Amino acid sequence: MSVNQNVKRVTTHTLAEMKMKGEKISMLTGYDFSIAQILDNAGIDIILVGDSASNVMAGNETTLPITLNQMIYHAQSVVRGVNRALVVVDLPFGTYQGNSLEALNSAIRVMKETGAGAVKLEGGGEIKESITRILSAGIPVMGHLGLTPQSIHKFGTYVVRARDEAEAQKLVEDAHLLEEIGCFGIVLEKIPAKLGAQVAKEVKIPIIGIGAGSGVDGQVLVLHDMLGITQEFSPRFLRRYNNLYDQIKGSVENYIKDVKSKDFPNEKEQY
Ligand code: KIV
Repeated sequence: MSVNQNVKRVTTHTLAEMKMKGEKISMLTGYDFSIAQILDNAGIDIILVGDSASNVMAGNETTLPITLNQMIYHAQSVVRGVNRALVVVDLPFGTYQGNSLEALNSAIRVMKETGAGAVKLEGGGEIKESITRILSAGIPVMGHLGLTPQSIHKFGTYVVRARDEAEAQKLVEDAHLLEEIGCFGIVLEKIPAKLGAQVAKEVKIPIIGIGAGSGVDGQVLVLHDMLGITQEFSPRFLRRYNNLYDQIKGSVENYIKDVKSKDFPNEKEQY
């Protein structure tokens, strides 16, 4: 299916309308031009240039090491491949928590240098000033609550968040706050399904879940996980749609065999 030709660009308003109509929102991560073209032609609504690039593209254990320049490089590549989807870019760790001016400068660099449509920041009340200042420059902001991987050293583990009453209460308050200050949407990561559904019901802005159950307004997965390129990562919420690790490895093994056996190139494959 190619949906690009006649479909207008997805904006934050499109997403708000989708929530109003009860139409679920599809979102996947993307980090490069070629994959972005495929995702866009398939009809994905949002491509997240996630700081998970730090893990799946760069091989780091956490999202913390990736830099703003590296995120900008990935985002520029993605934007070149997209006609329809909204491109949202993660502000990486250390580029918005310090103070709101730093946050604004980081967001401005992303918007100016990549042509993306929005930025995403992890956190609630503690980064309110940063989000407000970015929004005041006319830059759409998506929030991210629940398991926020940039805080992994504080959490100490990737287990489900907000299982206890106090943390769940704080998450609900943060979601309301993000809505009030003007975020256009929120990612909720790895929280109980009941809580995800509660938040999606209480706030008017779209709630996109990853491990937040079916009661939210849309779903996001890390592309390398859902395609089965990563192997060791198998949380309960992950549905694998392919096993590209085996497929790519098999293709490469066949290529090596053909080269070694002098089967490749054959007469038709040379000049
Ligand atoms: O960086 C990322 O891929 C994300 C998703 C897990 C939502 O933030």
